[in-house]
Amino acid sequence: MATGENIEGIIDHKLFSEDDIEEMTDRLGKQLTKDYAGKFPVVIGALKGAIYFLTALTPKIDVKMQLDFLDVSSYGNGFSSSGNVKLITDITCDVKDRDVLIVEDIVDTGQTLKFMEDLMRERGAKSVKCCAMLNKTARRVDDVTVDYYGAHVQNEFVVGFGLDYLNAYRNIPYVGVLKQSVIDAHKDEE
Ligand code: IMP
Ligand code: MG
Repeated sequence: MATGENIEGIIDHKLFSEDDIEEMTDRLGKQLTKDYAGKFPVVIGALKGAIYFLTALTPKIDVKMQLDFLDVSSYGNGFSSSGNVKLITDITCDVKDRDVLIVEDIVDTGQTLKFMEDLMRERGAKSVKCCAMLNKTARRVDDVTVDYYGAHVQNEFVVGFGLDYLNAYRNIPYVGVLKQSVIDAHKDEE
């Protein structure tokens, strides 16, 4: 991957600004505060993409909660899901009889979310729900419900605010569509 480039130069156009993301987390935080009132959920962030969204969202959920993290990999290459989901790093807490809220950056084919939800259900979670920053439904293959999400996206590849291409560009402070030329330039690395 090229280094030294101005990272925002790889963005074709901005899709969700910092203000848009703030509005999403305000709205979702209010909703989750209502829905989890009186509960003590385990909020599980899907590494690494969800960390920015989880960090922005959870202070807006006025409910006692525990945080944990799970790392699963599903990408065969930089931008399309392989369908072969693997557990890389497990959570550290017991989810038996707990209300689990999985926080994702984006749900695309749904295979990653299905894997995580099945794992939590097998372990005896009382409830398993998902809150994703973005919901990309065009390529959905697994029957999963994204219970809460910030916004829909079309079938285009987005980076920033946690979302990566080849594990880079997560630190762009907004969500933008990646230039096709960047994908073409890195084709050999996939
Ligand atoms: P799924 O298993 O196809 O639903 O893939 C979910 C994962 O793919 C997400 O957690 C992201 O890491 C990644 N992903 C899907 N679409 C995009 C995108 O447009 N940009 C960056 N990552 C994406
Ligand atoms: Mg990713």
